Amino acid sequence: MARRYFDWAATSLPDAPLLSSALTQSLTLYGNPSSRHAEGRAARDALEHARARCAAVLGVPPETLYFTSSGTEADNIPLLSLLRSPNPSGTLIVSAIEHPAVREPVVELGRRGFSARWLRPGSDGIVSSEALAAEVSAAVAAGRPPKLVAVMAVNNETGAVMDVPSLVRAARDAAGDRARQLRFHCDAVQAVGKIPVNLAAWGVDSAAFSAHKIGGPRGIGLLYSRRPLEPTFRGGGQEKGLRPGTENLFGAIAFAAALETRGTELAVAETREAALRREAAILDGIAATGRAVVIPECRKAGDPRYTPYIVQVAFPGIPAEVLVRTLDDEGVAVSTGSACASATAERPVLEAMGVKRELAFSAIRISQGQSTTDEDVEALLAALRRCLSRL
Ligand SMILES: Cc1ncc(COP(=O)(O)O)c(C=O)c1O
Repeated sequence: MARRYFDWAATSLPDAPLLSSALTQSLTLYGNPSSRHAEGRAARDALEHARARCAAVLGVPPETLYFTSSGTEADNIPLLSLLRSPNPSGTLIVSAIEHPAVREPVVELGRRGFSARWLRPGSDGIVSSEALAAEVSAAVAAGRPPKLVAVMAVNNETGAVMDVPSLVRAARDAAGDRARQLRFHCDAVQAVGKIPVNLAAWGVDSAAFSAHKIGGPRGIGLLYSRRPLEPTFRGGGQEKGLRPGTENLFGAIAFAAALETRGTELAVAETREAALRREAAILDGIAATGRAVVIPECRKAGDPRYTPYIVQVAFPGIPAEVLVRTLDDEGVAVSTGSACASATAERPVLEAMGVKRELAFSAIRISQGQSTTDEDVEALLAALRRCLSRL
């Protein structure tokens, strides 16, 4: 039975030619980039070249980019850095729809003297600039101006797209003369390849990326930080001491190639129309079952507030895990929420949107990618109809 993969938000299909080419290059660059000999220098040059290629796509200077082991690590470093600041306390304003890679370090900061304020999205799953400005103003008025604001760019469960530049502006305006101490972190892991990413235009202080969401390998992430940060790990001083450990040269080369292939504004634009067509087919097909509730319910095909690549849909009365398993038996891979949180039954993102618990527990995520075909969509919908006839 041909498998149909609709879990791209968990991890994308690997771009095999891109990975093979990166591997071939890195095999000849076996020196340690920290070594002074010719082999080491060649590896260092290749690493810096990869960084410069990533910087060109993301619109920032290369020296503001740090290779990490994952998107999770790239989210953790700027947050946990606060623990090592001269005065490790203060207010954090964090959206309630963040991935565990942001949520969990914020919870940890909360245990260690920081005060976390969770900013709920609207029922549409979108964090509004007005709500953020109100929260920042309230914190300033109470004499505890926020040290950090964290809002993700694209939500991994609903596909909701945030207006990052206006969120950044709203937070800084509301902070007034305390704006300089405010750091804005953006988890952009799901944004690359789905929306154009230009960090300079966004105005964020730090941002996290991950290669395996765009055809690159697992185990390599990228942190953007325009301000100095305190390291979490100590070691050999690699990545300017912020992320010590011998560099993953293969991963860095492959990440640069994946960003150039999938992450540019042009690449996003070129693949968008087909993705929108498939989104419309998915939304039409699930509506035709008569049993689907799209989350959020206001979402329509082609709505620019959501990426077409991620659809969250509930089938009331059917536990999500049962449907995921039944679809799997039919050859279709979908998921419930975030792969990183699938061990728990909690659905904090949906709950923050005000989705009723019963509905949230019957919600699955259908996520497609650049190489998903119309035939894959037809097979998904046929499998879904077969499953629903039995459940
Ligand atoms: C929004 C978001 N942030 C962070 C991550 C973590 O990235 P990684 O798997 O590279 O640790 C993910 C992965 O699912 C994600 O979807």
